[in-house]
Amino acid sequence: MSNNSDQAGFASKLGAILAAAGSAVGLGNIWRFPTETGTNGGAAFILIYIFFMLFMAMPIMIAEFTIGRHGQSDVSHSFLKMSGNRKMWKFMGLIPVISGFLVLSYYAVVAGWTLEYAIQAGMNDFAGKSAAEYASDFAAFSSNPFKPLMWLFFILALTFGIVAMGVQKGIERGAKIMMPILFVFLAILVICSLTLPDASKGLTFLLEPDFSKVTGATCLSAMGQAFFSLSVGLCCLCTYACYFRKDLDLIRDGFGVATIDTLVALMSGLMIFPAVYSIPGLSPDAGPSLVFITLPNVFQQAFGDLPAVAYVFSLMFYVLLVMAALTSSISMLEMAEAYFIKRFKVSRFKSSMVVSIVCFLLGSACSLSFGVWKDVTIFGMGFFDLFDFLVAKFLMPIGSALICIFLGWVVDEKVLRAEITNEGTLRQPLYPVFRFIIRYFAPLCIILIFLNELGVFKVLSGLL
Ligand code: ALA
Repeated sequence: MSNNSDQAGFASKLGAILAAAGSAVGLGNIWRFPTETGTNGGAAFILIYIFFMLFMAMPIMIAEFTIGRHGQSDVSHSFLKMSGNRKMWKFMGLIPVISGFLVLSYYAVVAGWTLEYAIQAGMNDFAGKSAAEYASDFAAFSSNPFKPLMWLFFILALTFGIVAMGVQKGIERGAKIMMPILFVFLAILVICSLTLPDASKGLTFLLEPDFSKVTGATCLSAMGQAFFSLSVGLCCLCTYACYFRKDLDLIRDGFGVATIDTLVALMSGLMIFPAVYSIPGLSPDAGPSLVFITLPNVFQQAFGDLPAVAYVFSLMFYVLLVMAALTSSISMLEMAEAYFIKRFKVSRFKSSMVVSIVCFLLGSACSLSFGVWKDVTIFGMGFFDLFDFLVAKFLMPIGSALICIFLGWVVDEKVLRAEITNEGTLRQPLYPVFRFIIRYFAPLCIILIFLNELGVFKVLSGLL
């Protein structure tokens, strides 16, 4: 965003790819992916997920890259510039900004929980507990009116600190430090997990597809997971792309980011499921509580004879989770913050501060919805569930569909081709495939899925 901020873009190609991968890799890979895989039957779900990753989420992510790098500005002005200065598209850019506030608010709540669990792992608090105690401890912690708010504050303060340092000194340096550590920790944990007794049962669950379990709902979940994992529709990556150098190959490097993201998700599965299957009586379909209730128990029991290994394993896992959450929350804050810098001509520091404070207030409501405000509901949902519902079911699909319609139908084809081929200097044989997906396949699928979510097909089939 060279023209509206005190910051230059990413200093290196590697830094740009790691920052984009850091934005994508998050709780979605390590918390949500194993949960979804566990509750949707394992390998068949993974194959469908990879299909949606390749043919929908990744092309839309590349579309976001294209808009951001062409615009060289915050999301709203990037839309405006690429549309050829049609004002309406500037306002469309506001949808991701609203989504950014909502998603960071509830995402930071769970990120805060990971900090609490990292500290507990560091203090060896998981040792010597019964299975019921892990569940009651988590219920007591998440419903406590103060502790989760304190961690929410800390995680937002950390996020703010990194973003306020700027693109190169904060975001890029953070990604260059955290992403390699994340990979090394993950690799060590996978190796440890695969050496456990009965690890092969976990591998079978992950690698042998049983298509008889696949339903329409499985496909919807797989698509939702692919979207969440690459944060498409939120435009975090659109904002990062405005800091990209002009020599990045958007299709090839986008494929690189999606590959890193998928690899981390698969490695999380390889770490978690063999460990879960190594304990008789535990099941992989524990749902969202998998990471905060089932896993602390699994780690202690699996390495019961080696308490030091159990300690190190738990600590590495939760530190890994904190880093993954942080690299994503940074990109969410950056997206909203960049908008305010441009819109109100304020400094990066002030803008990040304001966004962080608003997210703390909204996040507090989400956090309290697990405890003292659990009876406060809107449309039958507490704040946390409501925010998740609005973002995942409405704003992300709407944002993604708009990106496709915008790039596929509104933007001049010559402008799109020039951006993807770096002004004709790159031979890009995949360009026609990319354009076909963005113009026809992705928007059509999103609209169908959206109508299905709204129950339109049920009503229609009742009428026929
Ligand atoms: N892409 C981010 C994640 O997977 C939101 O956590």
